[in-house]
Amino acid sequence: MAPEAKVTAATLRARKGSGERIAVLTAYDVVFAQLADGAGIDVVLVGDSLGMVVQGDRSTLAVTLDEMVYHTRIVSRGVTRAHLVADMPFMSYQASVEDGMRAAGRLMKEGRAEAVKLEGGVDVAELCRRLVRAGIPVMGHVGLTPQSIHQFGGFKVQGRTDAQREQILADARALSDAGAYAIVLEAIPHALAGEITRAVSALTIGIGAGAECDGQVMVMHDLLGLQPSWKPRFVRRYAEMGKAAGEAFAAYAADVRAGKFPARDETYE
Ligand code: KIV
Repeated sequence: MAPEAKVTAATLRARKGSGERIAVLTAYDVVFAQLADGAGIDVVLVGDSLGMVVQGDRSTLAVTLDEMVYHTRIVSRGVTRAHLVADMPFMSYQASVEDGMRAAGRLMKEGRAEAVKLEGGVDVAELCRRLVRAGIPVMGHVGLTPQSIHQFGGFKVQGRTDAQREQILADARALSDAGAYAIVLEAIPHALAGEITRAVSALTIGIGAGAECDGQVMVMHDLLGLQPSWKPRFVRRYAEMGKAAGEAFAAYAADVRAGKFPARDETYE
């Protein structure tokens, strides 16, 4: 059987308007990257959600560029077909376009990313334009941008007031005009997501933004139910792996304590 065609920013971009929706999933290590790739996920995103779901922090702000490079590199070893995107962490690009160019360069050269994702709209449009001109595909991210939670006062739905709505629309337009091939729309009303999807030539990838986007993204830990107590409205659980893992660990501990593990056939002569 012929190997499935490699997914690239160009092949994804060609799907705009075709009705063929794009499935994006985060991954942070090689095992889950291989599973996602083998399952036919289109885009594997090494998100800076790393800070929350892997490092146990309350926000994404403390994630460093070195950490993103490291996780992107190990994820890249598990991805063959899917398109690999790496998040630009907080303050790796906000201070200057030059900072952003160098940070993206490290994610591509050392991390083996095939595109970078950055948060913001009008304010990062010039960086987006420069990156695209340098041959680096850019995925934007507007709406609830987690690197700005202190500005928002928490993880709150955005785009419910007229002013926010206009700003998010302008941000998405600015990114698309600057050459972004895709834009994540996070935690905004579905009608606004639909309006943006129709207004821009970039693909829209929703998370908590309804079904009118060109694709959807989920954090792997949410989809797998790895943190059973965390279940916001926009999450659909496709497995209960947190529960299953807890039960497996408890069964193992009980067997060790009862002398039931290892058995003879699990022992060398
Ligand atoms: O960091 C991340 O995982 C993300 C996705 C939720 C879009 O930005």
